[in-house]
Formats: sequence, structure tokens, C-alpha cells
Amino acid sequence: MQNKFYMTLYFYISILYKYMFPISHFNQVKTPFYYYDKTLLNHTLSTLTRLAEDRNFVVHYAIKANANPGILKIIAAAGVGADCVSGGEIKAALAAGFPAKKIVFAGVGKADWEIEYALENKIFCFNVESAEELAVIEELARKKETIASVALRLNPNIDAHTHEYITTGLNENKFGIPLEMLDGVLAQMQNYTHVQLVGFHFHIGSQILNMESFRLLCERINRLQDDLARRNIQVKHINVGGGLGVDYDNPDKNPIPDFESYFNVFRDNLDLRGGQQLHCELGRAVVCQCGSLITRVLYVKKSLKKQFVIVDAGMTDLIRPALYQAHHYIENITSDMAEQQYDVVGPICESSDCFGKNVTLNATERGDLIAIRSAGAYGEIMASQYNCRPLPGSLIE
Ligand code: LLP
Repeated sequence: MQNKFYMTLYFYISILYKYMFPISHFNQVKTPFYYYDKTLLNHTLSTLTRLAEDRNFVVHYAIKANANPGILKIIAAAGVGADCVSGGEIKAALAAGFPAKKIVFAGVGKADWEIEYALENKIFCFNVESAEELAVIEELARKKETIASVALRLNPNIDAHTHEYITTGLNENKFGIPLEMLDGVLAQMQNYTHVQLVGFHFHIGSQILNMESFRLLCERINRLQDDLARRNIQVKHINVGGGLGVDYDNPDKNPIPDFESYFNVFRDNLDLRGGQQLHCELGRAVVCQCGSLITRVLYVKKSLKKQFVIVDAGMTDLIRPALYQAHHYIENITSDMAEQQYDVVGPICESSDCFGKNVTLNATERGDLIAIRSAGAYGEIMASQYNCRPLPGSLIE
């Protein structure tokens, strides 16, 4: 009892301390590191789950966006399911407390051990990406004398108008089964005894802010379902994938993504048939805004035409700017001097190791701390050890 009192007291004092001295303790943490704001993550999750429950939609968090064990535990505790793309992600999801019956497993190249592992753990469903993969799942499920629930991932040929590397729903992409080939796969399934068709799955891309692409997806699914209904084919689950984008330019103005508009597009445009359940797989929208990469300034280098802020984080810690020319809002969190313009770059031996050109920062000096914002998604998880660098640490509070 007394113990509980002191724990509660400690909890409130630490929150108070965090708000009174928000970054004073950063000096004790080795840079670069990922800072995650637990309060914002929980707020994002409660908004998401409330809006989804109101509409009876099922959310699976896309583990690929961030698999930090502490972050996964918080998300699992919110009661959502998990979307995994590898055996490793299934392991991480189970370890964090996501129930197996809420796990979906996608990916164009599932290895046999991964399929077996998923079967042994009795996950909810495989999102199957090809006729060839379906044949292997049938064979492995038969060997294990079990039945695999599968959703066919269909490629709707819709342009998500996002970066070409994160567009997935066009015929030229490697993902999913083209709609034109669906009949062939359904015929193939007639001969199978160890796979059961429970749904259709779609995913058109990532960082999508224009709801029109999702509306087009609804139209495409409606047309497909009309056609299948004429042949008495109906599945229990429709999974529309992930993709809702976030505001990278104004993380403080828009800390919580527009879940409401996203869900309403599906509520208003998708014709669910009797008893059908809508699923989605959001990654970025759940974790992006709660994370920042905190890095220390090593040098402020004056050159002929520019000044460079050289920080101790590099493309090895956050690869998005180098890989997708992604923009992240950058701020100096230890200076309030008059603003100047800098290129913010890392120490890696590649010219693409640049976090931002002509960035306006408060006048910056060696030793200052820089926050690279909106880095909670596809940041820490995509870190590498190029140049024999250690992986970044993390602080969740
Ligand atoms: N479902 C499937 C089948 C996916 O392929 C993805 C993401 C998601 C769900 C989650 O999408 P989200 O809600 O996070 O947009 N590394 C890139 C993003 C790659 C997304 C890959 N697939 C980036 O940093 O922008």
C-alpha cells in the first residue's frame, strides 16, 4: 500500500519534472538517440481506437514502422492487432503481447520457416501475395495437419500519388495478385483442402494525404464485390491496408493524424456486405509524430557559400531523407539565438547524408542538441551499421 503511494508520487513528480525541465536530462543520454513521447503515443492510440470502435473497424498496427520493444508494448496494450511482414516481426509482436489471433502476415517472399512459424502460432490470417505462395501454404499446412486462413492480397492498380518507392498498388509493382488473375487463383483454391479463404486484402501505398486515392480504392472494391456476389462468392474480411500520412512540416500543429477523415472515407464509400468486417493496417500514422531523433552538433563548418551543421546522427540512424528525399522538420532545442540558415548533415561518407538543406535554425554552436522531428515511423527500425557505426539508442518517457 505504502509502496503504491510512493510509486504514484514518483510517477507524478517525474511527469512534472518532464514538463518543467523538458530536455535537461537529455545530457545524460548518449546521442544520437530516439526520443519517444509516451503521452502523445497514448493520446494517438486512444483517438485511433475510439474512432475505429465507433465504426466497428479493426486496426492492425504495422510493426514495420517501429518495432522498439517498449513502443510495441504500449501499442499492444491499447488492444489493436498487428500487421507483420516477417517471422521476426511475428516474434516481436508476440513478445510485446499482441495476441496471435489478431496478427496478419503479409509479404511477397514468405520463407517456409516463417509460414511454419505463423501456422504453429495460429495467427489470424496470411495475406497471400501470389498463386505460387498459396500453393506452398497449402502444402505446409497439410504437413502440419492444420488449416491456414488466408486473405488474397489483390493489386487494385490505383496510383496513390506518393513517392514511387512507397507506391505499392500499381500493376508494375511486385505486390499482390492482379485483379485479372483472381479467377484463376479462386479456381486453384477449389482443389485445396488446407487453406480457407477468409478475406481480400489491399494496400495502395504509404504517406497518403489525399483521401481521393482511398475513395477510388473503395470504388474498386465495390465493383469487385458486385462481380463476386453474382457468383455467390463472399468473404468475411476486407482489409484495406495502411497508408494514412502525417504532417511532416508541422508536427506541433498536427500531432495526431486525421484518422477521422480516413475512417469516414471507408464508412461512406465502401459497401460492406452482410456481416463483413473492415480491417486496416496503419503504421506511420500511429507512431510517427511521437518520435524525434535527438542528435548533438559536432561542428559548425563555414564553407564558401554555406554553413554546415554537422551532427553526430547520420543516414545510418534516419535514412528517410537520403532514400526518399523526405522532409523532416528540424529544430535546435538548446539555442534561442537569432535564426540563421544551415545545411544539416551527418558524418557519413556519402553526399546523400543530409537531413535538410537551407534549414532555418536558431544560431547553432558545437554541443547544441538538434531534434529531427516526426521520426517515430521508419526511423529507428531502418537504422543500419554502415561505417561500423553503433545503432542509435532510445528513450521512451
Ligand atoms: N500494410 C502493408 C501491406 C504495407 O506494405 C505497409 C507499408 C503498411 C501496411 C503500413 O503503411 P503505413 O500506414 O505505415 O503507411 N519506409 C517508408 C515506408 C514504407 C511503407 C511500406 N509498407 C518510409 O519511410 O516512408
